[in-house]
Amino acid sequence: MMDPRTSTSVHTPAGGGAARAAGPEPEVAGVPDPAIGKVVVSEADLRQRVQELGAQISVDYAGRPPLLVGVLKGACLFLSDLARCIDLPLEMDFMAVSSYGSSTHTSGVVRIVKDLDLDLTGRHVLIVEDIVDSGLTLSYLRRNLAARNPASLEVVALFVKDGLQSVELDLAYEGFRIPPEFVVGYGLDVAEKYRNLPYVAVYTGEGG
Ligand code: IMP
Ligand code: MG
Repeated sequence: MMDPRTSTSVHTPAGGGAARAAGPEPEVAGVPDPAIGKVVVSEADLRQRVQELGAQISVDYAGRPPLLVGVLKGACLFLSDLARCIDLPLEMDFMAVSSYGSSTHTSGVVRIVKDLDLDLTGRHVLIVEDIVDSGLTLSYLRRNLAARNPASLEVVALFVKDGLQSVELDLAYEGFRIPPEFVVGYGLDVAEKYRNLPYVAVYTGEGG
């Protein structure tokens, strides 16, 4: 079998991000890790796309300071990088949700583990999500937050998996369309590991 770690990037950036091959990065702390496969989005492409999203949000929200609502824990790296690319006053808040189901599949039944501190009434809320797979988590969050009377409610999702959604997504901002494989890095985990990888790669689960 071909070594998946040597194949090139296949990501297709949405909204004009430049497609470039990712480097041969799948080492973890300098040690090759067989559980980490092909790089789907490189560190350089992440940085560039996050800058583009921040610039667009800065234009769109001028005069309407956004409240970034980060969905813990996966979106925390994206949110902290994105916030620094938004040239506007803004607020941040976080919520944590847990979905019932297996570790790699969402059931659509979502439980709020940590709720927001802020009242959303009259605020311009921008949900910051790491990855949309079935879309069920996001669809729940949107309904839940919409019921709290925000002045506006939009979503920025860094990754959207191709072709898996049965629900209407309606994303104001989307970072990358990626193939429907389980990925880790840049906030995304498997059993709490790999969130600190600076790139996003396929999780093969090999060697563990
Ligand atoms: P959905 O409800 O099926 O859209 O799943 C969304 C949530 O599942 C995301 O917010 C992630 O927390 C998690 N998730 C989905 N796909 C992946 C993946 O490939 N890697 C890591 N987490 C994922
Ligand atoms: Mg999440």
